Amino acid sequence: MQIFITGGTGLVGSRLVPHFKQRGDMVLVLSRRANVVAGMDCEMIQGDPTQSGDWQNRAAECDAIVNLAGENIVGKRWNDEVRRTLRESRVKATENCVQALSRQPRRSDGSPKVLVNASAIGYYGPHGDEELDENSPPGNDFLAGICMDWERATVPAKDAGVRVVLARIGVVLANDGGPLAKMLLPFKLGLGGRQGSGKQWFSWVHRDDVVGLIALALDNPVVSGPVNVTAPNPVTNKDFAKTLGRALGRPAFMPTPGFMLKLVMGDGAEIVLTGQRVLPKRAQECGYSFRFPELDGALAEILGS
Ligand SMILES: NC(=O)c1ccc[n+]([C@@H]2O[C@H](COP(=O)([O-])OP(=O)(O)OC[C@H]3O[C@@H](n4cnc5c(N)ncnc54)[C@H](OP(=O)(O)O)[C@@H]3O)[C@@H](O)[C@H]2O)c1
Repeated sequence: MQIFITGGTGLVGSRLVPHFKQRGDMVLVLSRRANVVAGMDCEMIQGDPTQSGDWQNRAAECDAIVNLAGENIVGKRWNDEVRRTLRESRVKATENCVQALSRQPRRSDGSPKVLVNASAIGYYGPHGDEELDENSPPGNDFLAGICMDWERATVPAKDAGVRVVLARIGVVLANDGGPLAKMLLPFKLGLGGRQGSGKQWFSWVHRDDVVGLIALALDNPVVSGPVNVTAPNPVTNKDFAKTLGRALGRPAFMPTPGFMLKLVMGDGAEIVLTGQRVLPKRAQECGYSFRFPELDGALAEILGS
């Protein structure tokens, strides 16, 4: 399969590309810094997914697009300009991918092309202890609004006959980026613990299962619409801290008050301080077998213990 990936240089994409290459797919990665990104074993295409351009001709020729582009949410104050960038980097990139695919929505054998579009569990907004699946309604905060616009931007592709999968991704665990990488130092120093009240839910997913679920979405013709990309056993923030402390062999009794977290993570701290309890109902209905269903197994693999 010819797979065009936007945001392929990021935390998820950097694992997705070798996975597809290894199984024999042809992979093209669009990047705003194609000439400076080293070590990607694929065809790099210079371009900005938020701007229309020649890259869309290459994308239109491919069998599938995996659209992972998006300005990083964590570590900044969400002033008006940042809010605009967070939204536009997702919605405009999606509109441009959709435009490209809609030109040639069918593969050479007549089957529909596929768009796997990133979204996030922020779609559901904060929901206390309630269990959420793909049928749960959207939230009404800033992040939920972005997710709704992001997902809505895919509708013209669906209307053109493309199979569209909305990957509502949870908190991706990896040791070289994302929130876990940020937490490791304080936890290693014995300064880790619950964040805020600790009662909020943390719907995590090991990066390998993000790759596995995106591959499932591409390969399985019955998959379409929203798919929660989260492990089947979400935990509370307090239990996450306990499990991480245990995995590192360090005490984890030092709570981080919400205001401190906001100093370190900016407005992105909201994601950690509220959270939601999301279940991967659709993935399980499709028979996906999680490599890392339990948090301690995921952390053991990531931390190499
Ligand atoms: N990681 C998570 O925990 C998580 C959770 C929920 C949802 N998601 C979503 O899943 C997708 C992939 O996540 P990730 O963690 O791999 O993302 P990431 O590491 O932050 O990388 C995303 C890529 O998007 C491109 N990008 C960044 N800012 C951009 C901008 N302003 N305009 C256009 N392109 C921009 C960059 O590619 P170039 O610099 O090469 O152009 C970057 O490598 C993202 O859309 C993210 O929002 C991630």
